[in-house]
Parts: sequence; C-alpha cells; structure tokens
Amino acid sequence: MEAYEALYTTRAMRRVKPDPIPEEVQKRILDTAIRAPSGGNSQGWRFLLVDDPEVKARLGPIYRACMETLWNTIYKPRIDAAKASPDDPESIEFMKLFRSASHLADHFEEYPLLLFGFSQFDTSGGSIFPALWNGMLAARVEGVGSSLTSVFQFRVDELKAVLGVPDEGHWNFAGCVTFGYPTGRWGVAPRRPAHEVSFRNAWDGELGFEIPEPLWTMERD
Ligand SMILES: Cc1cc2nc3c(=O)[nH]c(=O)nc-3n(C[C@H](O)[C@H](O)[C@H](O)COP(=O)(O)O)c2cc1C
Repeated sequence: MEAYEALYTTRAMRRVKPDPIPEEVQKRILDTAIRAPSGGNSQGWRFLLVDDPEVKARLGPIYRACMETLWNTIYKPRIDAAKASPDDPESIEFMKLFRSASHLADHFEEYPLLLFGFSQFDTSGGSIFPALWNGMLAARVEGVGSSLTSVFQFRVDELKAVLGVPDEGHWNFAGCVTFGYPTGRWGVAPRRPAHEVSFRNAWDGELGFEIPEPLWTMERD
C-alpha cells in the first residue's frame, strides 16, 4: 500500500467483525509502535495486548462507566446543542460521532484485540501517542481497523487493577486502541482544510497557499 493511503484513510474504525487478529499482524503493530520517537529516545513505554475474553469482560463495564462520565461532563454542552437543533449540520456530524462512540462502548468486549499504552513519567502522552499511532497505521496497512480512546483516564485505578499495572514505576495510562477487521469501507478522513488552521511566520500570518481538497483521493471501483 502507498504510504499516503494509510495516512489519509486511517480513521476511527469502530464497526468491526469479531474475527481474531492474526499474530503476524499483532507483531507488525508492536514492532512499528516501538519504532516511534520518544523524548530523549527514553522508550519509557509498555504495551499490553488484551484478547482474553475474561479480561475484556472486566474492562467493558469500566469503559462504559467512563463514557457515561464523558457524555455527562465534557460533551454535555455538545449533546444538548445537538438535541436542541438536530438539523444543524454540526449536530448531524456530532450525533454520528456520538452513535459511533456509543457503538464502541456497547460492544467493547467484542473487539478481538485491544492495545493499552502506558508511558513512564510522561503525563503529556507526547512520548507514547506517536507509538500508538504507528501501530494503528500498521494495522491499516494490514487491512485492520482501529480506534483510539483515552477515556479510561476517568477510572484509571480500576483499569490498572484489572491489568495488574504495578503501583511503583510511575506508569501513566495514555490510550487504549481497539482493533478489528472493518464491516464497512475505508475512506479519507474529512477534516477542516489545512490552510484554515495553519499560519506562516506568525500567528495569523498568511500561509501563502490553500489546499481546498485532499491531496490524495481514493480510487473507487
Ligand atoms: C486523544 C484521543 C482520545 C480519544 N478518545 C476517544 C474516546 O474516548 N472514545 C471514542 O470512541 N473515540 C475516541 N477518540 C477517537 C476520536 O473520536 C476520532 O479520532 C475522531 O473523531 C476522528 O475520527 P475519524 O478519523 O474517523 O474522522 C479519541 C481520539 C484521540 C486522539
């Protein structure tokens, strides 16, 4: 696969099949993850793959409780706004995300593979998210969808207890990635164009060009 295809089409793929992820793909995910940069090349990371149904059964209720907290706090204004004006394009877009994220929560135990990333001392996550993203890109190359979530933060002690994360060592939970073969199709991630969010030389400085359409597009059959 062309590198740009992976870069443009790796998205939150939450509707997936329960088919297991082959060990060869798991190896690619981890071996690309550890190629990522980290501050001072400290590599202060630990990766935990979870595919045991019993462990997933213990994590599912915790994940759903975290999502409830998320919806009732940070996302509450957006949910209320979407309910108040459901035909607004922004509301329609948000409700798509809401349904998709709710699907992930409702089916958490059914994802065949989870990857948890822990980072030592690094509370920003700057030294671990590149690694998780590398793993997600590798999965994409292998035809496997993924979705990143950090919402376990709300109940991190419960998460650490289930996974047996040691109290010593300053291991911070950064993110959980769900993996699975997609039920749908891949597509280019729709985003606000780069020139609307980028400047040159100074804040608000004219960038000098526009990129109204994605520079890579998918050839559809
Ligand atoms: C730091 C971070 C935290 C995220 N947390 C969640 C989450 O708690 N639940 C979820 O379903 N998706 C979560 N996501 C996925 C985003 O919702 C997703 O990347 C975004 O909506 C773009 O989706 P798209 O690439 O499919 O367009 C998270 C993504 C990031 C980068």
